[in-house]
Amino acid sequence: MNAVQTYLNQRNDEEPTCAYVYDLHQLRQHAESLKASLPDSCRFYYAVKANPDCPLLETLEPIVDGFEVASAGEIEKVSAVSEKSMIFGGPGKKDREIEAALESNVEYLNVESFHELHRINYLAEQKGVTAPILIRVNLSENVSDSHLRMSGVPTQFGVDERDIPPFIEQALASENVTIAGFHFHAMSNNLDAEAHVRFVEACLDKSAAWRERFDLDALVVDIGGGVGINYWNPSQPFDWDTLAKGIAELDSEDVQLIIEIGRYMTAACGSYVTEVLDVKRNHGQNFAVIRGGTHHLRLPAAWKMSHPFHVLAKEEWNYPFLRPGIERDDVTIAGELCTPNDVLVRQEFVERLRAGDLVVFEYAGAYAWTISHHEFLSHPEPEILYIDEA
Ligand SMILES: Cc1ncc(COP(=O)(O)O)c(C=O)c1O
Repeated sequence: MNAVQTYLNQRNDEEPTCAYVYDLHQLRQHAESLKASLPDSCRFYYAVKANPDCPLLETLEPIVDGFEVASAGEIEKVSAVSEKSMIFGGPGKKDREIEAALESNVEYLNVESFHELHRINYLAEQKGVTAPILIRVNLSENVSDSHLRMSGVPTQFGVDERDIPPFIEQALASENVTIAGFHFHAMSNNLDAEAHVRFVEACLDKSAAWRERFDLDALVVDIGGGVGINYWNPSQPFDWDTLAKGIAELDSEDVQLIIEIGRYMTAACGSYVTEVLDVKRNHGQNFAVIRGGTHHLRLPAAWKMSHPFHVLAKEEWNYPFLRPGIERDDVTIAGELCTPNDVLVRQEFVERLRAGDLVVFEYAGAYAWTISHHEFLSHPEPEILYIDEA
């Protein structure tokens, strides 16, 4: 039985169904198989921003080598469940956060600008410590054509590749930082595994060239995350084996590779289950309105896409009048908010969909609940369930 079915079997609430269901067993197995596919020398981190829920962190803790964190809040959440290494990144670090990083199990701080380098050096000096840093590089090229890019294009992230030589000189002249390596997180939701391998190769080449030119003992090459979920066509997923094989071939004793996976780690363990409240026709198109919406699962609105879903038929119908529904037709699935932007599925085919049926949105375990605008319209929050059954 899958986690959603387990939840539905134990549910006895009169209100329409609306829940996030996390399958911790699936998450454990998935993370273990990703870890096993990588060479032992490649450190396998979880990027907490994808989903910081405590049961997910606890499930991943024995498997991963560490956590990528992006705020003092994430440092706290990880510290509550693990003593493993953390890497602290993010373009807007506050002094208090840098101090929190220096006082916790943060092994490396990403440095994203000259000003941030000065601040980290200054705060480390105040504390009488030396901060190991990774220089976050905004590459000039060699970044695959993925959904969102943080690098290879003008963004707020990292140090422009052209400025890396003076940046290294500045870091070498800063007494309270030590350059541990380079950080290259560059893209989000990349679906092209071969392009990802070429990107890893470029990261390694660039790092080797800077190491040699400045005689650095900076072994770490952090390739970030960015492995994608094919929301548009889940039957053709990212080819992880090609990436893992590529990493194994490129890995060498001269470097310490780190990969920080977010979306690809947790997306598949989460489902967002909602009940259809109404089915109607408007200007020649079918609409199903669900209990819930983009205030719980914002991703399809943010990316203007149809989120993958399936229908769970519910035969029970207690009203003494006709049940609205459609058969073998296209439907737009909208939420309960008072905005036409509250759309999760745009004109997709369904065999049948009726008021009272359930819609299960898959791949809702990453960048889903936590990136959504929960307060808008003051509807009740979804139930949140963690199921851990083989
Ligand atoms: C520095 C850093 N590392 C890793 C990740 C994880 O990326 P993804 O969830 O695409 O794997 C992110 C996400 O934004 C990030 O900012």
